[in-house]
Amino acid sequence: MTSLTAHRGEILHCLNENEHQYFEDGVLLIKDGYIENVGPSVDLINNLPEGTELIEHPNCLITPGFVDTHIHYPQCEIIASYGEQLLEWLETYTFPAEQKFADKEYASGIARFFLNQLINNGTTTAMVFATVHPQSVDAFFSEAEKHNLRMICGKVMMDRNAPQALLDTPESSYQESRELIEKWHNKGRLAYAVTPRFAPTSSDEQLASAGRLLKEYPDVHFQTHLSENKKECEWVAELFPESKNYLDVYERHQLLGKRSLFAHGIYLDDGEWQRLAETDSAISFCPGSNLFIGSGLFKLHKAREHQVKTGLGTDVAGGDSFSLLRTINQAYKTQQLQGEKLSALESLYLATLGGARALDLHDKIGNFETGKEADFVILDYLATDLLGFKMQYCEPLEERLFTLLHLGDDRAVKQTYIMGAEITF
Ligand code: GUN
Ligand code: ZN
Repeated sequence: MTSLTAHRGEILHCLNENEHQYFEDGVLLIKDGYIENVGPSVDLINNLPEGTELIEHPNCLITPGFVDTHIHYPQCEIIASYGEQLLEWLETYTFPAEQKFADKEYASGIARFFLNQLINNGTTTAMVFATVHPQSVDAFFSEAEKHNLRMICGKVMMDRNAPQALLDTPESSYQESRELIEKWHNKGRLAYAVTPRFAPTSSDEQLASAGRLLKEYPDVHFQTHLSENKKECEWVAELFPESKNYLDVYERHQLLGKRSLFAHGIYLDDGEWQRLAETDSAISFCPGSNLFIGSGLFKLHKAREHQVKTGLGTDVAGGDSFSLLRTINQAYKTQQLQGEKLSALESLYLATLGGARALDLHDKIGNFETGKEADFVILDYLATDLLGFKMQYCEPLEERLFTLLHLGDDRAVKQTYIMGAEITF
């Protein structure tokens, strides 16, 4: 039987990076989990198909679900760890925590907690690192599948410069990734990402086997880290003296492309920006992490200038929050420190359609175009005393939106809908 639901309230979504659609009193019509129509109430409310359930959302904003383009589920337990920058942070906190994911039961428990956090924060799609253990990917996808979530994940490939217990080999990482792709890629709403951790923990042979996987499975995704921290960049130059620059380490193995996403990119030169643009590769901007582990300030104006696809990432647990609203706030501050602006509408774009484009999923999610999957959130303008107080002084739309994005956090996410259904854990 067909299911039809109409959500009435203030509705905002992005049509592209420069254009949005806003209905102060709008209706979002969902048919069998997909967007059927969106428009002003006056046009739609009296012509709803027979049998449509009507749900009203007063004092709320309805937007597409948030897209987190870079996050590590096995790092939940090390969120907010004190005092270290990237390379020491990996040794001190990250590698010990990731060793626990050899245990599938443990991994499943953390995956459940993690997905619950995403949903409570209005994040409906994420691109996720697992650990080197194939069972960590099985655990993650099994939990995501139970809730019909659109998620991307991959087994970390890492054959050097990490504890022995976390190392694989070029051959074993190739074989294990291949088996995981066969098992999970395009199963329902799940997709696989080939996932070498970053250049320092992979040999050239291993990066070559990642390239081979992308050739054999052209529609799988690719994720890694790039140019995040100064010491890391110096180390990469020492480890790969024949490469022109950091990005070139990956390019030599054909790892760039429209389904490739590189986290961070803080210290890129113009040549690297240009290659990212020419290959239609994407960057994940992770301001919460860049501040928390002291990596540096991302140059969003370079991404704009070179028209490089960009999404937001929380990078938990380099980042200290699961909330893309908090991440927008951090992003704004990193731009202010560089004399640059980040508007409310551009922020919303980065957190929704921009993220979907960065993941090459914009034909399925990211806005309310007819036929897209109905993942959306109900944001409460009055979620806290402070939000409610400040709203009295705001004009629609941009002031109200700016306030909601910057003072909001998980408390502002009233409900999260997945394929048209309210989700509870
Ligand atoms: N670079 C290599 N591994 C990691 C990681 O786990 N987190 C972050 N933020 N950067 C990395
Ligand atoms: Zn990361």
